Amino acid sequence: MISSTGTSTGSVDRSRLLDWYRKNRERSAGLFALIHDDAFYDRPIPLRHPFAFYEGHIPAFSYLTLNERALQEDPLDPVLERLFERGIDPATLDDARRHERADWPHRRAVAAFAAECDERVRRALQFGPIEDSTVPRLVRAQAAYTILEHEAMHDETLIYIVHQLDASRKGFVAQHHDDHAPPASHRRTIERGIATLGVQPGEIAFGWDNEFGRTQVDVAPFEIATYPVTNADWLRFVDGGGPVPNFWKEGDGGWSLRLLFETIPLPQSWPVYVTQKQARAYASWAGSRLPTEAEYHRAAFGTPQGDERAFPWGSEAPAPHHGNFDFARFDPEPVDAHPAGASAWGVADLIGNGWEWTSTPFAPLPGFEPMASYQQYSTDFFDGKHYVMKGASPVTPRELIRRSFRNWFFDDYPFMYAKFRCVSL
Ligand code: AVJ
Ligand code: FE
Repeated sequence: MISSTGTSTGSVDRSRLLDWYRKNRERSAGLFALIHDDAFYDRPIPLRHPFAFYEGHIPAFSYLTLNERALQEDPLDPVLERLFERGIDPATLDDARRHERADWPHRRAVAAFAAECDERVRRALQFGPIEDSTVPRLVRAQAAYTILEHEAMHDETLIYIVHQLDASRKGFVAQHHDDHAPPASHRRTIERGIATLGVQPGEIAFGWDNEFGRTQVDVAPFEIATYPVTNADWLRFVDGGGPVPNFWKEGDGGWSLRLLFETIPLPQSWPVYVTQKQARAYASWAGSRLPTEAEYHRAAFGTPQGDERAFPWGSEAPAPHHGNFDFARFDPEPVDAHPAGASAWGVADLIGNGWEWTSTPFAPLPGFEPMASYQQYSTDFFDGKHYVMKGASPVTPRELIRRSFRNWFFDDYPFMYAKFRCVSL
């Protein structure tokens, strides 16, 4: 319950938010510790800033969003706050060049700034008036949730950038990998019915602006693959002239897969991670297509009875037996590893083990309004060039797993942990 020092009458659970904040910070610290000092200014993905930016960005964003903009506290370090305010998503390497700079601060300076932000953010979560129904940024503690989910998202972003860093420049975490003959992926028939996209304010504790505007879509019947497309499936495409995924590597002994920390012989039963463009090419080669966002919802959350579920498996909170998410491991696993996570139609692996591409361009739901705490969060990406991804990857924290959550990327961005499946009819 809110402490008596707060001015709000709400019921936000401060100790839960504070625990979540601490958990995020600890996980981020563990991830940054994987990056060797001499790689601190590396940009393994030239379309993104160097690691130095991210170590400052997460705490700077938290301080700016919660303390400064929502709670009207004074700036802490205006120069560093500006430097670390926002990341980049240029369409081309030429555009990326305009963001290059040689004067990123020393790692110790970044760490000191981060620690200072951190201390103040913790104090705000503990004692600040973080909930106030009359202040847009504080309605239902919006700014507090914004910084918590923002950091959770960045942990995933950081991992896929670390993925592209050479093994000699980062730490190592040993993991066990299973593989077996891929299961036959029969098609399931999804009957005609309603898919509810988005939510109404108040339906969930917090949502990003692009999740609002509860919308019901009448979806025609279609057939969808039980499992996402596997490496074994994609191998047939490559043999027929299809493109090679970014995470694959060809050697004398055949194909290997570049995991986060090691390279292993290509696991046949794991989902293939590809761009949306590559996924589309595969689908048309196979005489099918990608699901729309509404079709993903039907397959994942719809039921033959006509009601809609919170999760494919029902209403139980996401747990390890439902799928490969929340850092249970860093890498994929076989597409049939979690029968308990299947939807009412028997469609498996919809949440976890890689985001799922849809054919739907990222666009606002009806009634969209930019959120008070982060006005550009979505609007900058409603450009017809980013596409919706649903579900979760192995490194998506469980707090981000909810029906309305939408992720998005360019259709040719090859670094995401994103899989797909085909539909027909
Ligand atoms: C929602 C994952 C596409 O990483 O570009 C982080 C999240 N926005 N900081 C991204 C985000 C601002 C965003 N995605
Ligand atoms: Fe960010």
